[in-house]
Amino acid sequence: MDIVLSGSGSALPEKNLTNDDLSRIVDTSDEWIKSRTGIVDRHICKEDEPLSLLALKSAQKALEMSGIKGSQLELIVAGTSSPDRNFPGCACDVQAGLGAEGAVCFDVSAACSGFIYAVHVAESMMRASGYKNALVIGADALSRHIDWTDRTTCVLFGDGAAAAVLVSGEFGGRGIIASSLGSDGSRGACLTCGSIGEDKKLYMDGSEVFKFAIRKVPENIQETINKSGLKKEDISLFVLHQANKRIIEMVAKKLGLSEERFPINLEYTGNTSGASIPILLDELIRAKRIKKGDNILLSGFGAGLTWGSLIFKY
Ligand SMILES: CC(C)(COP(=O)(O)OP(=O)(O)OC[C@H]1O[C@@H](n2cnc3c(N)ncnc32)[C@H](O)[C@@H]1OP(=O)(O)O)[C@@H](O)C(=O)NCCC(=O)NCCS
Repeated sequence: MDIVLSGSGSALPEKNLTNDDLSRIVDTSDEWIKSRTGIVDRHICKEDEPLSLLALKSAQKALEMSGIKGSQLELIVAGTSSPDRNFPGCACDVQAGLGAEGAVCFDVSAACSGFIYAVHVAESMMRASGYKNALVIGADALSRHIDWTDRTTCVLFGDGAAAAVLVSGEFGGRGIIASSLGSDGSRGACLTCGSIGEDKKLYMDGSEVFKFAIRKVPENIQETINKSGLKKEDISLFVLHQANKRIIEMVAKKLGLSEERFPINLEYTGNTSGASIPILLDELIRAKRIKKGDNILLSGFGAGLTWGSLIFKY
């Protein structure tokens, strides 16, 4: 049974926050942020702008592309670690907005790896229990957890949401080919975010996370390629979590691949956590940079620590 991606959609909040705006809030500069991260601008939810509304907008676009109606959906899985509230979850809010009464809906929390984890959960449920389609969402609004006096973190993150529709059937071998996920809770303290009081603020040891990413991501990508039976040359594009341009460049270098195969949009999104991979994926599909038959690798890493990659033939 093949499980293919039949639609994608994304949504960014209207309000943006440039590096120059940030340099008026904390002791930083456009030059520092650009040279250390590649980020120039990011989008931030307004105080009364629910994340689930952004998720719903992205879901509507994904459904429109796939030609599936909300009422036909069987499963909605949202990868988010910054939902509007603890419950009901983001997936249930989206269900209500779409009128997807027949769907089973829940959230998956795996921080910036959330979308990859959510796709893997949906795919596994489709294979094991026969769900014929699934809407998978990656959505986060970490701006609500940022300490706006901490220049080491406040310049990095942005908000956003994106969605993908998965459909099962016989598609001539297209669809998800291989995935490989991992976690290491013993190293969780280097990137944390709670839900009450002071603990609500995001804390990060940037250099620890940086070292973890440039070691683990290439390893995990190679492991996934090995599982798929493909060669790295067979992969058209590597759609990586958009945390830092330097991390992406170093991953490409470690894999011995040209940076051209590692598209980047973080200059205007910042790190949108669980939304970052599916936002970029949607942009590439809509720009026709991803064509039918291309092998695409998605790869994320983040708090937990968590990481994961998957390869699919579009
Ligand atoms: C956060 C990060 C960009 C910092 O870049 P870096 O090159 O490692 O910078 P350092 O932390 O070594 O800091 C260098 C200096 O810049 C300063 N600095 C930190 N943030 C700054 C900012 N926004 N503006 C100006 N200076 C800043 C530091 O205080 C430090 O000053 P010092 O040398 O006087 O102590 C980088 O570590 C990173 O991207 N880490 C991974 C983060 C990540 O991906 N998180 C998400 C995971 S999902």
